Amino acid sequence: MARKFFVGGNWKCNGTVKSNEELVKVLNAAEVPGTDVVEVVVAPAAGHFPQVLSSLRKDFSVAAQNCWVKKGGAFTGELSAEMLKDLGLPWVVLGHSERRHIIGESDEFIADKVAYALGQGLGVIYCIGEKLEEREAGNTMAVNARQMQALADKISDWSKVVVAYEPVWAIGTGKVASPAQAQEVHDELRKWLSANVSPEVAEATRIIYGGSVTAANCGELAGCPDIDGFLVGGASLKPEFVDIIKAAE
Ligand code: G3H
Repeated sequence: MARKFFVGGNWKCNGTVKSNEELVKVLNAAEVPGTDVVEVVVAPAAGHFPQVLSSLRKDFSVAAQNCWVKKGGAFTGELSAEMLKDLGLPWVVLGHSERRHIIGESDEFIADKVAYALGQGLGVIYCIGEKLEEREAGNTMAVNARQMQALADKISDWSKVVVAYEPVWAIGTGKVASPAQAQEVHDELRKWLSANVSPEVAEATRIIYGGSVTAANCGELAGCPDIDGFLVGGASLKPEFVDIIKAAE
């Protein structure tokens, strides 16, 4: 079965009530391919969940940008997977490089989070990617395989996992991976899944690209056989996000 194109908008720690209202207005008015062609998910900051949940068109979903590693309780400042479910959020982004490298979350901690979130019925956008020095040292696939293995050690059901390959050097830098660079890693990731999980999971799992995706560069990337969509940061805060969704066509 063909993999459905997936476009995520990661709003990160941005937005005001007013700016969200304007952005949602643009998204709600957009003419984009139907849900049979593309799955669209936006991830606002947690404080904005109620606003976005109540105002966003219902054929787009809302994701959290993070969640706690286990059941909620005495964990100040955290949001549990159960809370996300209760609020009606079907997705959570986990393992984003900003959480790996700024907050210091480890491969194992992130994999535990993914396993717990999946166990609560959430879908997970699982982010991986190498830093520039790792790429320059020839370790691109070793780093990505290590991050994949950490997850494979903790889960067996991949049906609600979307893998987001986001080279750290491309995030927020304007230096998008070339279609050839991105396709090469996506192809390697699919081969990795086939060899280490199963050919069926490799065939069915969506592997999306993130890192300086814009309306101008998304078309060529979307044409690559192993790129099944995008995780978009900066451009998801602008009307051009609509053009990125349309790359699914
Ligand atoms: O989650 C999204 C990525 O970090 C990409 O961000 O599109 O601003 O480079 P960016």
